[in-house]
Amino acid sequence: MKKALFTGLCALLLCAVPSWAQWGPRTIPEPTDGLKDAYKDYFKIGVAVNNRNVTDADQIKLILREFNSITAENAMKPQPTEPKKGEFNWEDADRIANFCREHGIKMRGHTLMWHSQIGTWMYQDEKGNLLPKEEFYANMKHHIQAIVNRYKDVVYCWDVVNEAVADSPVYPGRPELRNSPMYQIAGEEFIYKAFEYAHEADPNALLYYNDYNDAEPAKSQRIYNLVKRMKDAGVPVDGIGMQAHYNVYGPSMKEVDDAINLYSTVVKHIHLTELDIRINEDMGGGLRFNQGQATVSDWERTLQQDQYVNLFKVLRKHKDVIDCVTFWNVSDKDSWLGVRNYPLLFDENYKPKQAYLAVKGFDPKMDDAVILEDFKPSELNQPGQEYPMVNSQGYARFKVNAPKATSVIVSLGLGGSGGTVLHKAEDGSWMGTTSGPMDEGFHYYHLTIDGGVVNDPGTNNYYGSTRWESGIEIPAHDADFYAMKNVPHGKVQQVLFWSNSTNQVRVAWVYTPAEYDKTKKKYPVLYLQHGWGENEYAWWNQGHANLIMDNLIADKKIEPFIIVMTYGMTNEGFRPGQMPAARPAAAPGAGARPAGPGAPGAAPAPGGAPQARPARPAGGMGMMMNNGFEAVLCDELVPYIDANFRTIAKKESRAMAGLSMGGMETHTITLARPEMFGWYGLLSGGTYSPEEVQGTGVKGIFIGCGSKEGPDQIRAAAQKLQEAGFNAKGYVSEGTAHEFLTWRRCLYEMAPMLFKK
Ligand code: XIL
Repeated sequence: MKKALFTGLCALLLCAVPSWAQWGPRTIPEPTDGLKDAYKDYFKIGVAVNNRNVTDADQIKLILREFNSITAENAMKPQPTEPKKGEFNWEDADRIANFCREHGIKMRGHTLMWHSQIGTWMYQDEKGNLLPKEEFYANMKHHIQAIVNRYKDVVYCWDVVNEAVADSPVYPGRPELRNSPMYQIAGEEFIYKAFEYAHEADPNALLYYNDYNDAEPAKSQRIYNLVKRMKDAGVPVDGIGMQAHYNVYGPSMKEVDDAINLYSTVVKHIHLTELDIRINEDMGGGLRFNQGQATVSDWERTLQQDQYVNLFKVLRKHKDVIDCVTFWNVSDKDSWLGVRNYPLLFDENYKPKQAYLAVKGFDPKMDDAVILEDFKPSELNQPGQEYPMVNSQGYARFKVNAPKATSVIVSLGLGGSGGTVLHKAEDGSWMGTTSGPMDEGFHYYHLTIDGGVVNDPGTNNYYGSTRWESGIEIPAHDADFYAMKNVPHGKVQQVLFWSNSTNQVRVAWVYTPAEYDKTKKKYPVLYLQHGWGENEYAWWNQGHANLIMDNLIADKKIEPFIIVMTYGMTNEGFRPGQMPAARPAAAPGAGARPAGPGAPGAAPAPGGAPQARPARPAGGMGMMMNNGFEAVLCDELVPYIDANFRTIAKKESRAMAGLSMGGMETHTITLARPEMFGWYGLLSGGTYSPEEVQGTGVKGIFIGCGSKEGPDQIRAAAQKLQEAGFNAKGYVSEGTAHEFLTWRRCLYEMAPMLFKK
């Protein structure tokens, strides 16, 4: 039984947490199709492979599923293929080429001329002197033509020259091109010659100039300049390869977009040839293979995913000119950057990351989505604060001032996004807009600035996710039922009551209807519980329970009743990833404290130190385990309320309901104390079966949840109860998940059924 409750609650808690990122990486089921399929209408998806990749059965399976273009990571480079003049070594290159032939995959050839991974014989004599130009050209021609000829049936394009443009900064007097031995021998002409030799060998192959830091404005201009000069000189250059060794902080998508725009004015073909996105600030040729970091943080994962997602969005926009996007290596385990850089979409175990799903699962419609610029400050903002803002479509826009920060993430975003990554705006602030419309209603969020979690100073705070979080309200179409209107308003007052069982003063908030102070009437009472992440503030602070009641009463849709909202946990306990801890032992002697100080109306013990507020347990699992809350509620709070408020102190006039974990508590307590409660409500908090409630004398049962949290169970359970003759109501809140708009609506739907004779 306990195990079943534990499992059930875990399931609830998981739905209760909006962001996957808070829970670390999740196992993603093995995909049934690949990136190549998702991008079939856009461009080819390639991968750089080593020998292992094409000989291991599992890796072959993955490669064939995901990719439709292959590059040999090293095997076709100058040095590996011709280590000594005229002595060719084709073994590795043949293995990869044969793999591609066998599977009908065309290859990108990489690379014919490069200052690195090249035998020095190509450009210098045995004494280390540079060769005469003619001899160098003869060596180059012989090499290029041998390899191009050998693979012309399977290689459809070549990176003819690699990395010949100088890195920034380039100052007057310094050449725009890299001062390599080849450049020293022949100047820019060696580049032209390489292209001519390749073209002669295979006139059908597409020929690329390939380089890194390809989106850096100054270097991309130099790359453009070189290719433009080649074109003007009639050199057969077809395309530009952007290596795309990027990182989670840069380049900005504007820089990538600008570079593609620039390149596409001089070539018809652009490939991303060596894509990876490392989790540090190194770029291009700057290498730190081991970050010395044991694990990647969730926020870094979010940054990486965001960079990948935004990059592919830009690439899709340019599908006319982008024809292939190649990842540099299959998985993090293979990465030339080392596994600690975490740069690819498959992890060190060849399992897809969440970012893989995000890159693959794009919605083409969202690429063209127009965001309406009618943003207004969220109604939950602190006085005078403009941001966050919300528009009429439900997009949220954030702005945070953090001048020295390197990353700012808002925890709120569409499912699976891990949040919304903000980017530096022109005024130096960090800004960002959710990637799509959010669900209507209230959402918690926080900021993660360089890994540190803080609240947004723009908004008020709301207790949820076991902390005071920032809150934002996406105006709901039916917001009227909880709107603050000019109707008679009830009161929400705090009461402090002594709890003998927990040896502390505890808190409850009591809603009394507007008429309460003007009548002598006695009222029914609803005990209304919050969920695992929340506390006793939640139902009135973000739930607007009091306003919902005021409006229902003003509209004469219900007879007035009292609502009591208390804190529903009694001990230190559960945090994600931990098992519930035992309840801490009371301080010596504390257990002997007489009930006196907590008697109705009594002041806290003089000079003593009863806790002004209950200790903040980490979670509620302990409650489910030892049921301490049942005693607090039934033996302490209910008697306190009945003694201090004008209640109708009997079962028919007493209800208990709760959201999420509060629903589980309701379930347990109502069944354990059928003599106390006549009305039960579970709000995204499970169901009752007819067998369970048989013999309890229950008067009515409400079961509700959001349409995005598995509503079928709720509907079915309500129907079963009705068929068994119980007064039961099932309710599904359209378009909402495990969140407060669901529960506001549930309260609104449940209130009219309660306490009916
Ligand atoms: C890298 C390979 O991945 C490594 O295995 C090798 O040790 C060095 O070269 N730019 C390029 C690629 O054009 O050829 C490089 O590949 C990575 C940088």
